[in-house]
Amino acid sequence: KKSDPTIFIIFGGTGDLTKRKIMPALYNLFLNKWLPENFAIIGTSSTKTNVQKYIDDLQSAVDEFSRNGKTNEEDWKRFSANITFQDADVTDSAAFKPFAKLIDQYKKEWQKTPSIIYYCAVAPRFFCTIAENISKAKLENDPKTTRIIIEKPFGIDLESARELNKKLLGIFAETQIYRIDHYLGKEVVQNIMAFRFANSIMEPLWNRNHVEHVQISVTEQIGIEGRGNYFEHAGILRDMIQNHLLQLLCIISMEPPINFNADEVRDRKVDVLKAMRKIETGKVETMSARGQYSSGWIEGKEVLGYREEKNVDPDSNTETYAALKLYVDNWRWQGVPFYLRTGKRLFKSASTITLQFREIPHNIFLSEESGAPKQNRLVISIQPDMAIRFQLQSKVPGLEMNLNTVDVVFDYSAGKKTDSPEAYETLLLDAITGDQTLFMRADQVEAAWELIMPILNYWEKNKEQNFPNYSADSWGPENAEALIAKDGYHWFNLPDN
Ligand code: BG6
Repeated sequence: KKSDPTIFIIFGGTGDLTKRKIMPALYNLFLNKWLPENFAIIGTSSTKTNVQKYIDDLQSAVDEFSRNGKTNEEDWKRFSANITFQDADVTDSAAFKPFAKLIDQYKKEWQKTPSIIYYCAVAPRFFCTIAENISKAKLENDPKTTRIIIEKPFGIDLESARELNKKLLGIFAETQIYRIDHYLGKEVVQNIMAFRFANSIMEPLWNRNHVEHVQISVTEQIGIEGRGNYFEHAGILRDMIQNHLLQLLCIISMEPPINFNADEVRDRKVDVLKAMRKIETGKVETMSARGQYSSGWIEGKEVLGYREEKNVDPDSNTETYAALKLYVDNWRWQGVPFYLRTGKRLFKSASTITLQFREIPHNIFLSEESGAPKQNRLVISIQPDMAIRFQLQSKVPGLEMNLNTVDVVFDYSAGKKTDSPEAYETLLLDAITGDQTLFMRADQVEAAWELIMPILNYWEKNKEQNFPNYSADSWGPENAEALIAKDGYHWFNLPDN
């Protein structure tokens, strides 16, 4: 990947995201020599700070959050020589003027035209304001060299997402807008494309003739981590399903693209969203489940229930768990249910996609001991384990014909954990090199909102009196078990079954 001289202007430069994700990612890219020779990072926030203090704070953050652990003083010095700080109130276009000066300075110093990346690591209400003020202050906005990165959440519903797209597209071209969904940068998620489209034995199996059902499960042990203000208005359907889980569904079920071009790949994903069966209001109850965590114990520590968390209404009906049953109505997937679930404060943190294959057509193994052969599964573990395993049936060595399940495994942990780049490293490098494949296009975001709107609306109108509870450290509410059990399946809770 080749990159031009680059200037990053990070709005929200002292914020949590910059400290936890963006800076560690940029630092690791630097260490691994992925950053261009000429690069500059301009951190910005409304509160003044001096450059040295800013750099020291960032170093502590990188020490804490980088996958490589503590920084080495020499390396940090070389890296941080490229960092500066500029205070700016993002709501005031006059405050953007100094950026023009800084950009000019770098241009003169480098004697080259740099790419400029405006990174909106701020609350969503500022996305448009920043874009508008970049335009008002006449900051550099050449479609060939200038990009803007937008974090999630992208809108709070279909209407607001459309509005946001409209405003951004009034200032930037679609090819300049990089909407982040960090799940797409995860190593195993990217490997799904390789696994599906670089192996000829997968394609014949990858359809309704062989796949019985699919589960996409992102369970988290953490709660809302002090984000009550945000989460109360979001809920897990907006926070996780509208973006991360639906994107995983798209990658699993998309048709093979004809090449790896960003728009070709994204077109195929949008095809999936368009093919998804509309959820009729009358069917929301039978196609979904939701719940909210109550207090409990996670790994020996007592944790609060959602309604006791800070900035959460004690009578809140915001869902912290959601499960959906969806269908992709096309030739490949007709009739195959896709079950999605995600929740906070669950028994274990694990992100997995499982394809369960159909039963064998005729059972010749009649041993009572081992029962009928279990159905094959392909289990894609995204995190914390990074592995792809095929579950097959095999004979137990011995004098009798007994069967058990064996795993054919590709396990990433054979390498060092730190060898795999973090999602933000992948995505930032793609933004630097101008590759939009792993970023969300306007129509993708809108199609995902369109799909979940009936559920959002129904849940909003039907705030149940007794909101289904689940205790922290369980696998979620009973209605989610019922959702899948009525079809004769159960959620796969690795590694047990
Ligand atoms: C974020 C959500 O997008 O993804 C969080 O806002 C969630 O609520 C997080 O915890 C999960 O990401 P990861 O990479 O830790 O699985």
